[in-house]
Amino acid sequence: MSTLLNLTLRVWRQNGPETDGHFDVIQATGIKDDMSFLEMLDVVNENLTNEGKEPITFDHDCREGICGTCSLMINGQAHGPARKTATCQLHMRKFHDGQTVTIEPWRAAAFPIVKDLMVDRAAFDRIVESGGFITANTGGAPDANLIPIPKPVADAAMDAAECIGCGACVAACPNGAANLFTSAKVAHLNLLPQGQAERYSRVESMVDTMEEYFGSCTNHGECEQACPKGISIDFIALMNRDYIASKFKNRKLISRS
Ligand code: SF4
Ligand code: FES
Repeated sequence: MSTLLNLTLRVWRQNGPETDGHFDVIQATGIKDDMSFLEMLDVVNENLTNEGKEPITFDHDCREGICGTCSLMINGQAHGPARKTATCQLHMRKFHDGQTVTIEPWRAAAFPIVKDLMVDRAAFDRIVESGGFITANTGGAPDANLIPIPKPVADAAMDAAECIGCGACVAACPNGAANLFTSAKVAHLNLLPQGQAERYSRVESMVDTMEEYFGSCTNHGECEQACPKGISIDFIALMNRDYIASKFKNRKLISRS
């Protein structure tokens, strides 16, 4: 049987990127502890609408921990108090009756606020557009075992591919750096044979684009702690190694053209 919670929410409200924001205090009553955090916000919004008030704008899509859109700072923690859990998979049993819960959008210069709790993460798209793809025409799907890949390498590529592009790493970083995200997007291609043809042009282009929008990494490690998919900061080391190598490899390629 579910337990019912009564919570005091401090919710960030802001009409747009150019306007000032403020916290609204909203009571959330009769919240079942087996609801997800987003279901709790659904209930709050239904009540606000019934009272003729404006509902809270927040981002969500899959509600299954896949799409990365449900990006909330909850009591100062990206995605809230549960480790390796996106906001949509966070359950209200992680909170206690009578608790005050502060809900904010990601705070990062590269992610301007659209409205209330929703931010614009298009800067991530610019990084992926600059190199997060393979241009080789691969034809039909080859047999799975045609290109042998060592198991630890395949596992590492799959671990990197788990990144859902939520932006928690940027929001948690004191520098607003996007190195964890970018390194995951570089690694899931650069580790595999199919990614080798563009390995060094990819890393150079994606890191250079990242630096146009985001702050610099100074190895705080907050990103790894905040990541709902447990992406390891080891991928940042791999990206840095490939980036340094690209400064020699890419020069060699230019001299041959
Ligand atoms: S690295 Fe983790 S925290 Fe950063 S965007 Fe990817 S899933 Fe989100
Ligand atoms: S809504 Fe898709 S990851 Fe949370």
